[in-house]
Amino acid sequence: MAEGPVNVVLGAGGRTGLECVKRLVDVSDIPTRAVVRDPSKLESILAKSAKLQIVKGDVGNEASLREVLKGARGVIFAAAGRGYWSAADVDFKGVERAAAVCKEVGAQRLVLVSSMLVTKKNWLNPVRLLLNNIRWGLMDNKLKGEDALRASGQPYTVVRPSGLASGLPGDVTFVTGQGDTMAAGSTINRADLAAVCAEALTNPGARNVTFEIVAREGAPPGGYEAQLKSMWASLQQDA
Ligand SMILES: NC(=O)c1ccc[n+]([C@@H]2O[C@H](COP(=O)([O-])OP(=O)(O)OC[C@H]3O[C@@H](n4cnc5c(N)ncnc54)[C@H](OP(=O)(O)O)[C@@H]3O)[C@@H](O)[C@H]2O)c1
Repeated sequence: MAEGPVNVVLGAGGRTGLECVKRLVDVSDIPTRAVVRDPSKLESILAKSAKLQIVKGDVGNEASLREVLKGARGVIFAAAGRGYWSAADVDFKGVERAAAVCKEVGAQRLVLVSSMLVTKKNWLNPVRLLLNNIRWGLMDNKLKGEDALRASGQPYTVVRPSGLASGLPGDVTFVTGQGDTMAAGSTINRADLAAVCAEALTNPGARNVTFEIVAREGAPPGGYEAQLKSMWASLQQDA
């Protein structure tokens, strides 16, 4: 595998992961490595580009992570388990493994796509209860993954979106919160979430920050792209 520096998207075959790849190929000055369990899934969707590498990888396997994270500068973790019992291995241990390998290779930032309502203060929220049972312990394992990342010593950003939707990016205003106190019910397009994740890879204000995010219709007065740069000013670093 070509050495870096590269940005790496883990879970690139997923709906958010794919949007992250597209955004990074558009805006980043370094190549993007899309990591997917079956590369043929992406090879037919994404146009060939010198700025894009599609490689086979699995967050369930440390040796595989060592291989795909060679030369990684920024890493987005957008993988999520498939199958009823998958959350412990992917959403928790997968994040823990990725954080350890990112630290080993000296990645500058690991951005984790987590979820609103993940914390224990929302223990009895009906949506959290439901999600925890759609896949066994999903939200509990997502929180364990977040905790492992925060404790790892690897510079990170934890992004907790509301419900995810499809659609074109742009023409929205982001509303952020911290402490997992935002009301559930709003949505954010995966393409807009991807733009936020891509910006978090390099923006100094995103370093070691955990936050919730939703999108409201209509771009802010300064415009969509400017908001991606400035939105971090209102967020506090984790203690
Ligand atoms: N859906 C919502 O409304 C919502 C709300 C808040 C937060 N979230 C969170 O947002 C994140 C992204 O969600 P999404 O709906 O965009 O995801 P998604 O489409 O379900 O994609 C997840 C991807 O993870 C990949 N994956 C599974 N196990 C893997 C492994 N061991 N190694 C590498 N990749 C693996 C799968 O790859 P394959 O293609 O190989 O199967 C799948 O494509 C998830 O963490 C989700 O929990 C979702």
